[in-house]
Amino acid sequence: MLILGIESSCDETAAAVVADGRRVRSNVVASQQLLHAETGGVVPEVAAREHLRALPLVVRQALREAECDWDDLDYVAATVGPGLPGALLVGLNGARGLAYARGLSLIPVDHIEGHVCANWLLDDEPPLPALALVISGGHTELLLMEDHGRYQRLGGTRDDAAGEAFDKVARLLDLGYPGGPPVSRLAATAPERRLKLPRAWLSGSDDFSFSGLKTAVLHTVQAPDAPPAAEVAWAFEESVADVLSKKAARAAEREGVASVLVAGGVAANRRIRERIEERSSVPVFIPPPDLCTDNAAMIAAAAFRHLDDARPAEAPLDIRPMAYRSRVR
Ligand code: KG4
Ligand code: ZN
Repeated sequence: MLILGIESSCDETAAAVVADGRRVRSNVVASQQLLHAETGGVVPEVAAREHLRALPLVVRQALREAECDWDDLDYVAATVGPGLPGALLVGLNGARGLAYARGLSLIPVDHIEGHVCANWLLDDEPPLPALALVISGGHTELLLMEDHGRYQRLGGTRDDAAGEAFDKVARLLDLGYPGGPPVSRLAATAPERRLKLPRAWLSGSDDFSFSGLKTAVLHTVQAPDAPPAAEVAWAFEESVADVLSKKAARAAEREGVASVLVAGGVAANRRIRERIEERSSVPVFIPPPDLCTDNAAMIAAAAFRHLDDARPAEAPLDIRPMAYRSRVR
């Protein structure tokens, strides 16, 4: 079974063809990163307009790379939320139009579930129940995945998302947007590795908080005897990795899960991956970086688990942006 997935919730316009929710036939991503680097973050209206321009191109390329025709497809799937409203509208309505024109039904997909399902695009299939840690620019969510489509939210961030913290620290250190990769690269060059920045444990809860850490970074770099930026970047990354890995390991043990699934753009971070793997007593699954950051293969993979939700393209269907904060700051 072939599903064409479409993703447009933030600043990547993506289309992919996935077979049976497991095998990636094509995975095309047009990133708007360069465009948003100029403003230091995503301007929602600019993102929406850019999705409109890129969507037909990525869809055509996804079909070409998958060597398939519209007739070979079984469904079209699109992200309905959470995400930026204007951005979601372009992807969802583009998907509806395409499905309508080709007589295909449409499957609405939750972006967070998409990130989790990227773990089904790996060679080995994760055993369930699983603990899922979704860490991205917009989200930090700890979920108990009992089965496909059956999730319990254990906790999440109370302020900044993990990726948002990387982006804000990058801004403090003048490293540009998005912040994760340059902060991580700078951290790797730290000559001294002794600086200790705070960790918000929020004991007794599965929630996270990263805004205090961000403020601590601000105070550290503004101090008259400020350490080199690389050391600050290293200590920041260590603090995030420590909190994420310990809290995930603790929740996994308490819930008695069979595996830990990590997903979202921040899962591309090497130190965070290593810490989580070190501390987990059950197998850890982490997709390769191109399936961690926003993509449409994960949307098609999640859609495969929700074939019951398929509906005629012309049926009313609205976006579900939820409380997604503007990424401009
Ligand atoms: O999942 P994603 O592509 O988009 C959202 O749904 O938010 O995640 C993007 C986020 C950005 O905040 C970016 O800085 C972060 O993931 N990120 C990283 C790394 N690569 C991307 N954070 C830390 N280390 C990385 N290597
Ligand atoms: Zn995402």
